Amino acid sequence: MIHFTPISTNSKVKTKHSLNDIYWIISLFVLPFIGLPTQLKAQADTSKMAWFADAKLGIFIHWGIYAVDGTSESWAFHNKQVPYPKYMKQIEGFKAEKYDPTYWANLIEQSGARYTVITAKHHDGVALWDTKMNTLSIPKKSPAKKDVLTPFVEAIRKKDIKLGIYYSLIDWSHPNYPQFLKDSVRYKATEDTLRWNRFRQFYQGQLAELNKAYKPDLYWFDGDWEHSAQEWQAAKVRASILASKPNTIINGRLQGYGDYETPEQNFPVSRPNLKYWELCMTTNDNWGYRQSDHNFKTPYQIISIFADCIGMGGNLLLDIGPKADGTIPDEQVNILTELGAWTKQHQEAIFGSIAGMPQGHFYGPSTLSKDSTCLYLFVSQTAANNVYLKGLNNKIVSAEVLGTGISLEPKIVGKISWSHVPGLVYFEVPAAAQNKYISVIKLKLDKPLSLYRGKGGFD
Ligand code: GLC
Repeated sequence: MIHFTPISTNSKVKTKHSLNDIYWIISLFVLPFIGLPTQLKAQADTSKMAWFADAKLGIFIHWGIYAVDGTSESWAFHNKQVPYPKYMKQIEGFKAEKYDPTYWANLIEQSGARYTVITAKHHDGVALWDTKMNTLSIPKKSPAKKDVLTPFVEAIRKKDIKLGIYYSLIDWSHPNYPQFLKDSVRYKATEDTLRWNRFRQFYQGQLAELNKAYKPDLYWFDGDWEHSAQEWQAAKVRASILASKPNTIINGRLQGYGDYETPEQNFPVSRPNLKYWELCMTTNDNWGYRQSDHNFKTPYQIISIFADCIGMGGNLLLDIGPKADGTIPDEQVNILTELGAWTKQHQEAIFGSIAGMPQGHFYGPSTLSKDSTCLYLFVSQTAANNVYLKGLNNKIVSAEVLGTGISLEPKIVGKISWSHVPGLVYFEVPAAAQNKYISVIKLKLDKPLSLYRGKGGFD
């Protein structure tokens, strides 16, 4: 079965070539013959990353046929928990009859998120949009009978929210994709380069479609681990994306050709290596909707994890898994709503802030204003009566509980008159000023933050 339809043979597209199409055609069909710079490794330029660094919170959406029976997304058949035909049969139950993309966009906006990333296609190969590269898509195969990606993109584009498209490089359903089940492969990419090339043309063709239709602000690739950068033609894919929209951000799952690091689920204790990073995390234990999974994190846990991320200069990409009918589970609606009330009260400490103090000065996360003259301390209820700060050389001009209008009086303890070592700064947050999850103390400093990092005594 031939799955690849070269873009240039599609006369409908051909007659409407925009600059964007031409870029794609050049990069897909011409660049491979003239070669590409081999060292095009992730070099995120700061100006294009500016919105991402300020955005802090993104909402990840895993929506696919796996929501029908509530299996794990794609992995269910790959890991042989469910036979492949049974897994794929879920498509017959994907109706999306209550799907309301405007509601989704409103909820995302309400959470305070500044970007969103939606699974256009997961490892199972089922496209949410009406791809012309094959027929395995929601519009072609499911009773929903419609493209469910475009209306979401349109709803998001009406907001001040950046659009990210998740695209799985892996396609375990495609007859020309080498890997299939965990213990069986169709063939080896290195041994049948013609067949592998057919798959590459297919996937790059899908990317061309996505690029043409949505021009996302961010591409979130996944599954790069199954092939090398060379096999994926990662350099070419990156170049093609940037040629059509130079500011596009690419996540770090393109075999070294992305712009930022994407630790998954496991919280980093020390700061990831790349300057830009984003923790992607589920609200319960699964990416997609699973009716059996009730292990939701509490709003407090989500908020404290979020505060921890931004305190270390990263973003949180928090996942939701809508049901097959298009509704969002109540627990996730609740988490996003609570998160939204919290982000609203503490906007100043979150958006546009930079990483706070290194560990050791304060028992909790902190952020700084970009000029480092305002320090924000994130304080849980249990710590609110006994907040203290070590090694602050600055004078505190004012202290307040953010979003409450309540001022605080710092108490300096243990300052020795003849020593340059600063004293400890204590605060008490009055009960009336405490946020039910995490309060934020804003300290206005006399000048940019200066910290004493010595070992005490005469040091
Ligand atoms: C993993 C999984 C995938 C999930 C993704 C989200 O790479 O393969 O199922 O979509 O992480 O980060």
